[in-house]
Amino acid sequence: MSSIPQTQKAVVVEDVGGPEVLQYRTDYTVAQPGEGQVLVKNAVAGINYIDTYFRTGLYPSAKPEVLGREAAGTVVALGPNTEQYNLQVGDRVLWLGNAGYAEYSAVPAAKTVKLPDSVSYETAVASFMSGLTVLALTRETYEVKPGDWVLVHAAAGGAGFLMTQVLKKLGAKVIGTAGGPEKVELVKSLGADHVIDYRSEQGKDWVSTVMSLTEGKGVDVVYDSVGKDTWEGSLAVVKRKGTIVWFGNSSGPIPPLPLNKLSPKCVKVARPTLFGYIATREEFESYSRDLFELLTSGALNVHIHGFHSLAEVAQAHRDLEGRKTCGKLLIRLD
Ligand SMILES: NC(=O)c1ccc[n+]([C@@H]2O[C@H](COP(=O)([O-])OP(=O)(O)OC[C@H]3O[C@@H](n4cnc5c(N)ncnc54)[C@H](OP(=O)(O)O)[C@@H]3O)[C@@H](O)[C@H]2O)c1
Repeated sequence: MSSIPQTQKAVVVEDVGGPEVLQYRTDYTVAQPGEGQVLVKNAVAGINYIDTYFRTGLYPSAKPEVLGREAAGTVVALGPNTEQYNLQVGDRVLWLGNAGYAEYSAVPAAKTVKLPDSVSYETAVASFMSGLTVLALTRETYEVKPGDWVLVHAAAGGAGFLMTQVLKKLGAKVIGTAGGPEKVELVKSLGADHVIDYRSEQGKDWVSTVMSLTEGKGVDVVYDSVGKDTWEGSLAVVKRKGTIVWFGNSSGPIPPLPLNKLSPKCVKVARPTLFGYIATREEFESYSRDLFELLTSGALNVHIHGFHSLAEVAQAHRDLEGRKTCGKLLIRLD
C-alpha cells in the first residue's frame, strides 16, 4: 500500500442541490478497501444520468457523498475476503459501485470484472452500465424478437445510443426519438428505421407519427427513460397487449399511474433497474462477458460525447441535464 496516497482529488456532494453542490477537492481521504472490496486507481470514470438523481435527492443517499457509479482502472489493493473473485493487484478492471468521481475508489469485488486487453478503459466505461442495462432490458424485461416494432426515447443518449444498435442486431424495427438535428443524424447512422425530432415543431406530435408508421397498430414495446414528458405518449403508442419499459426519469418522474389506464389495451408495464438483473456474481459475469464479446467483435460501437477532468464535473452535469450531450460523458483521471 506504500505507493497509495492518503489523500486524493475527488468531487464531493455535502448536500443535495443543483450542479453547484459538486465540490472539487484535492484533499479527500483515500479509503482502505473493506470486507469484500478492492481499491481501484481509476483511469476513466462514467457520468450517468443516475448521478444527477443522487445529487438532487430524487434518489435518496447519505451525504456527504462522492458520486459516480462506474469506472475503470487498476487494482491497487485487495480487502479481506476477495479471493473468490480472482482479482490481483495490477489487474485492469471495470467496476460498478460508488464514489467513481475520485482518483481511487474502494468498490465491491463482486461487481468488479477484469477487462479484456483489447478493450480500452474509455470504451469499457462508455458501454458498461448503459450496455448492461440495454442487454438486460432487451432480453429479460421484454424479450425483443425479430420484426418487433420498438420505440426508443432519447435514442442519442448514453443508454439510447447502445439500445438502438442492440435492437437492430436483434432484428427489430426501431423508431427513435431525439432532440435536435445533430442527435437525429447520429441515431439514423446507427441504423434506426425512423427517427423523430420530438423537440421540433414537426416532431412534437410524435404520437401520430408512430401510429402512422405502424399502420395504426402501435409498437410492441416502448423503452422510455424520459419519464414525465413522454409517459402519456408512450401509453398512447403501445399496441394492444404491448409492453412499456419505463426505466428512467430524465425529464422528471412519472406521476402515480392508475392501473386501470392499462386495461383498455391490456398493456404490461415494467419499471426495471439494472441491479435487479446482475445481483449474483454469475449474472454480473455473464452480462459483462456478453458485452465484452459485442465490443471485441466490433458489433457494438460507443460514442463518447467528451472527456472532463474532475474539476469540470459540475459543467458536465449542466450539459447532461441541459440535453446538450450525445452518447457518453467520461471523466479522465490519469
Ligand atoms: N433503470 C436502470 O437501471 C437504468 C440504467 C441506466 C440508465 N437509466 C436511465 O436511462 C436514462 C438515460 O441515461 P443516460 O445516462 O444515458 O443519459 P442520457 O440519455 O445521455 O441523457 C438524458 C437524455 O434524456 C433526454 N431528455 C428528454 N427530456 C429531458 C429533460 N427534460 N431533461 C434532460 N434530458 C431530457 C435528452 O435527450 P434528447 O435531447 O434527445 O431528448 C438527454 O440527452 C436516464 O433516465 C437514466 O436514469 C436507467
